[in-house]
Amino acid sequence: MNLKHTLIVLEEAECLADQQAVEAALDRMAEEITTQLGERSPLVFCVMNGGLIVTGQLLTRLLFPLEVGYLHASRYGSKTTGGELLWKAEFQAEVTGRTVLLVDDILDEGHTLKALSDECLRRGAASVLTAVLVDKRHVRKVEPGYRADFTGMEIPDRFVFGYGLDYDGVWRNAPGIYAVKGM
Ligand code: IMP
Ligand code: MG
Repeated sequence: MNLKHTLIVLEEAECLADQQAVEAALDRMAEEITTQLGERSPLVFCVMNGGLIVTGQLLTRLLFPLEVGYLHASRYGSKTTGGELLWKAEFQAEVTGRTVLLVDDILDEGHTLKALSDECLRRGAASVLTAVLVDKRHVRKVEPGYRADFTGMEIPDRFVFGYGLDYDGVWRNAPGIYAVKGM
């Protein structure tokens, strides 16, 4: 994408949540996470790349002992067939018996997050919880009603970028949740 088009995309986008609104959502999530996991020394996995900003900004709000790692995988084939994962980085840590928290930018249909949760459980995690900044409202979830354990905000079924979410590879760094014009 060329520079001029990239700038126009941001200029024309609709801001669904500005930085202040996102920070407030992160505060709420951190409180809920602390209540549930504050005494469980969880292993917090950032789901790369989209989860980078949300994970970083949540971590400094979690004032209890935890460990941090990352997972980087995408899924083979079409969106609707199964959850077979293509690992882009080797699975990071020993999860046997641990409480795992997966942190990602968005829950769209939920295929990726569900496949990563299942994989952690398969590898012996005691429990796996999930946190996403954004949940898209629609009826195409991987299972009816599938949700993260911790959700920052719900948004309409539009294509969004910012806070880790990219539009064609750019604007993960945009300081808000923006909906692309016409999408
Ligand atoms: P899911 O497996 O259907 O939940 O898809 C999740 C992945 O699709 C996310 O981690 C994003 O990488 C990508 N994705 C879904 N919706 C959007 C969006 O609106 N903007 C940017 N990326 C998206
Ligand atoms: Mg992603």
